Amino acid sequence: MTVSPAAAAIERPGGLAAESRAEVLDRAEQRLVDLLGAEHAEWSAVDPRAAVPVDAIRELVRAGGKRLRPAFCAAGFLSAGGDPGDSRVADAAAAVELLHAFALIHDDVIDDSDLRRGIPTVHVQHTARHQASGWQGEPRRYGEGIAILAGDLAFSYAAQLTQELPARARQVWSRMTSEMIVGQHLDVTVAAESVPDPKLARYIANAKSGRYSIHRPLELGAALAGDASAAAAFEAYGTALGEAFQLRDDLIDTYGDKDTVGKPVGADAGQHKMTLLVSLAALRDASVGELVRAAEWDAAALAEALNGNGVREEVERRIEELVAEAKGALATAPLPEEWKQELALMAEEVAFRDH
Ligand code: IPE
Ligand code: IPE
Ligand code: MG
Ligand code: MG
Ligand code: MG
Repeated sequence: MTVSPAAAAIERPGGLAAESRAEVLDRAEQRLVDLLGAEHAEWSAVDPRAAVPVDAIRELVRAGGKRLRPAFCAAGFLSAGGDPGDSRVADAAAAVELLHAFALIHDDVIDDSDLRRGIPTVHVQHTARHQASGWQGEPRRYGEGIAILAGDLAFSYAAQLTQELPARARQVWSRMTSEMIVGQHLDVTVAAESVPDPKLARYIANAKSGRYSIHRPLELGAALAGDASAAAAFEAYGTALGEAFQLRDDLIDTYGDKDTVGKPVGADAGQHKMTLLVSLAALRDASVGELVRAAEWDAAALAEALNGNGVREEVERRIEELVAEAKGALATAPLPEEWKQELALMAEEVAFRDH
């Protein structure tokens, strides 16, 4: 049996829940291929240059990724009793992946990152193209301009896919997009101001990442299925797991291996990011606290302080607690037993990943 890319993204044996989720993900994948293929054809007929931003999105989508957001959207929908054959769930799942593409393309400009999913980021590719072609103007401004537009276009395609969704699902969608953008803003501004505030760091981690990755896709799926009875459980599960997801992302940035990760490592310290990891570390280790309060950030000293002082182990324990909390939220949830099991497995996969 060939394993589809979507099914392989979160691969594990069995269960009807996992199987029906993989089927929805396959259809969402096809939706992405069809939409981006049609857009490529339409714009390249106007002028080959016109298809450039579409192709930037297509390349990022083709480069893979874990497809977590479509997986949670499908899980929210199916666990709330949605009909697996409903074409709108594939649209919604494809939409959340395109929203993610928008976020990633812009995030890499914001964070000055050169690698994403193992390939050069959109702005880096287009800066290099400008340079190599000897075009007019500033290469970096050009490259970042293309990335802004490609990100915007991904956002527009995502919105297009949500047009036929019911009103409640569109409300969730709007909330999901605006909170992520505000979260990204806070991430940048708190880094610039170098504010060591663990409570705020936690809020930001969820706003910029956790919520649009887990809780909101679950909520979106359930809204589409027309059953909000598990809303409180999804929120508790998604908030705890969202924090674990971002803590793992911060750990991967600090201790990960660039080839496995497919994106830069050590970038957060270089960008003075007041991550959840750094905030927790600052609370537990006075030397980290001192480093982040300093007027000038010493990224190398911070990276060293985060190594070998027990912070990593502490954060691993925090992730374990958060996973237990997320699973605990499922215990009394009005969800079918097989979905409780499936969501518990998904929590493990999200929290204990290496990329
Ligand atoms: C990366 O998300 C960006 C964050 C929200 C931290 P993922 O780790 O889900 O990235 P892909 O989709 O697998 O590439
Ligand atoms: C990005 O967070 C969140 C969004 C894309 C909205 P990060 O900046 O930590 O993500 P990575 O580490 O670059 O993937
Ligand atoms: Mg960022
Ligand atoms: Mg980043
Ligand atoms: Mg990160």
